[in-house]
Amino acid sequence: MHYMLHTFGCQMNVADAEVLAGHLENMGYSETTTEELADVILLITCCVREHAESKVYGKIGELYSLKQERPEIILGVGGCMPQQEDVASKLKQRFPYLDLVFGTHNLSSFPELFDQARSSGSTVVEVLHGVGGITENMPRVRRDNLKAWVTIMYGCTNFCTYCIVPYVRGQERSREMSAILTEICDLAERGYREVTLLGQNVNSYGKDLVTQPDFADLLQNIEQISGIERVRFMTSHPKDFSRKLIAVLASSKKICQHLHLPVQSGSNRILQAMNRGYSREHYIALVDEIRRSSPGAVLTTDIIVGFPGETAEDFGETLSLVREICFDAAFTFAYSPRSGTVAATWAEQLSKEEKKERLKRLNDMVNEIALERNMLLVDQIVEVLVEGPSKTDEAMLTGRTCGNKLVHFPSDPSVIGKILDVQITKAQTWSLFALPVGIPR
Ligand code: 5AD
Ligand code: SF4
Repeated sequence: MHYMLHTFGCQMNVADAEVLAGHLENMGYSETTTEELADVILLITCCVREHAESKVYGKIGELYSLKQERPEIILGVGGCMPQQEDVASKLKQRFPYLDLVFGTHNLSSFPELFDQARSSGSTVVEVLHGVGGITENMPRVRRDNLKAWVTIMYGCTNFCTYCIVPYVRGQERSREMSAILTEICDLAERGYREVTLLGQNVNSYGKDLVTQPDFADLLQNIEQISGIERVRFMTSHPKDFSRKLIAVLASSKKICQHLHLPVQSGSNRILQAMNRGYSREHYIALVDEIRRSSPGAVLTTDIIVGFPGETAEDFGETLSLVREICFDAAFTFAYSPRSGTVAATWAEQLSKEEKKERLKRLNDMVNEIALERNMLLVDQIVEVLVEGPSKTDEAMLTGRTCGNKLVHFPSDPSVIGKILDVQITKAQTWSLFALPVGIPR
């Protein structure tokens, strides 16, 4: 018996998919990447923008013919989409051939729900609301044997006015530090060399725990775990980024000098309307401080264009901030109204054309700067963790720098899983080319 997972959206969903895979393997299923061979297909969905939802609707529609050919196949839709108000029942109505619809808080009870779905003649719908708490020790099948995702906190309570996440992922809650450290020690014993700590706002880690540890404390403890050589984390929130963390970052040998620090807009008026809790000046000062203490830090960001009420002048401020900061890369998005969020109710929505035009102008600038930043690395020797064959050229291998930049270089497969020094020979917007210069370790 085989299962297949289609995962949409962010790394939180990737981590959730690993848990669902764990449950399914415990029930005797093994993974397939061929739909025709699958006895179970689950979609782990995202609703952060309309585009993400459209992709899911398209996929559910596509699965109809498979269900007609093989009615015994189990089709399930889980994650953020069904967690929204009314969406689960709409899914059931619109796609009655679905066997199971479940939310983000139903992972621990997945085996029971799955059993119900197998024996029920109609769609089983289960979406828990208003749940806090954390279930530890769920089974998990990790997608990689070198790099692991480790969720350190769940949910978000920031309520940025454009964002659906607090509604579908619940309030912010941190895992106990001891549970996180045990998980990472276990990963190290199993040969993992890199961990990425996940949370919507890792900088507020621990605020809800009795002993109130903070994120910098957590990082310092992870640093002590032998075997783990690289520690990454995302996402950082500019309003909660502490001085202590800046110092830990600068002194650490293992924490990767890569910060994903979403700015969202360069206009103070828009930042305020977004409820981001910081100003343009605060963001610039924070980046200055980070770069002063960690000069090689790679900085990436998220930016939204066309937020309700964004004028040409506001957008100009975003462009000027991008030029001033010189991000290594940016994920850029056209604002997408999400039902249930505050900003979606505002009258001053921009047209699709306006948003598209601004997005293009922003992307042109972001890409130009990304190339400039990458060019600065040419001739430098950098350390990469070798991941495997390059996706575009089989003769090459691919690795990532501490700054999370993708590097392609010629070498033999024996270096996969190792850390290697390479000299950068050529820079492109999204990747670098290099030659190995050191002994793999
Ligand atoms: N429209 C466009 N982009 C959004 N994001 C979150 N909500 C929306 C929305 N409604 C972006 C933000 C966030 C990233 C994960 O997605 O930039 O940082
Ligand atoms: Fe959404 Fe803001 Fe929370 Fe990030 S911090 S998940 S953008 S509400």
